[in-house]
Amino acid sequence: METRTIIPTTLAATAAVAAMLAWAQGNDRVAFPENYKGGIHYATVERGNIREEIYANREAIEAANKGQPLPSGTVITMEDFRDGRLFRYIVMEKRQGWGERYAQDIRNGDWEFQSFQPDRTVNRSENVTRCMGCHKAQVRNDHVFTLDRMRSAKLSQAESSLRHAALMPRITDSLTQALLRTWHEGTN
Ligand code: HEC
Repeated sequence: METRTIIPTTLAATAAVAAMLAWAQGNDRVAFPENYKGGIHYATVERGNIREEIYANREAIEAANKGQPLPSGTVITMEDFRDGRLFRYIVMEKRQGWGERYAQDIRNGDWEFQSFQPDRTVNRSENVTRCMGCHKAQVRNDHVFTLDRMRSAKLSQAESSLRHAALMPRITDSLTQALLRTWHEGTN
């Protein structure tokens, strides 16, 4: 009789502890940014056998260029190489309201942090409160160590997409002409 009540309670307690551990070691919010290379590569940092390549989404670089705060939806992705081999990816992502669940002494604005293995799965053995502890020191730079680099980054990829956009009217014109031609041919 007693075991019946004990077992569910134990299971519930175990699930709660597991959930807390999962929360402490990586979080459920930051997914791997599969398209990070479609953003802007804005910095390379080299130190001994470490090389870091840092990317951010275009909207974030555009805001930084204008001296504006990094917008909700900003994703910064770092490839971390050791001796030339990919060791891990680390990512920080900002979304409005995300910081609310943290105590003030841990909270980094609305940023969440995540570490990924080279196969892009979450590294659960990484305690993200460590990330937050160190990045908290950059509070004046929106918790981003390389904010200056973002501010001075060139939007080369964005510029080329603007050039692409500038071609659009001409493409549309010739498309329209082609459509008009077929239409005329069809009615003649
Ligand atoms: C001991 C301090 C420290 C810890 C812990 C730390 N970082 Fe950083 N992080 C830095 C520094 C310093 C930089 C700037 C690049 C450099 O000098 O290597 C940086 C850069 C970054 C960047 C690029 C944007 C920026 O702030 O410049 C990301 C993304 C990042 N870290 C994510 C993480 C994540 C995720 C973790 C935890 C898994 C983490 N960091 C833990 C110090 C730290």
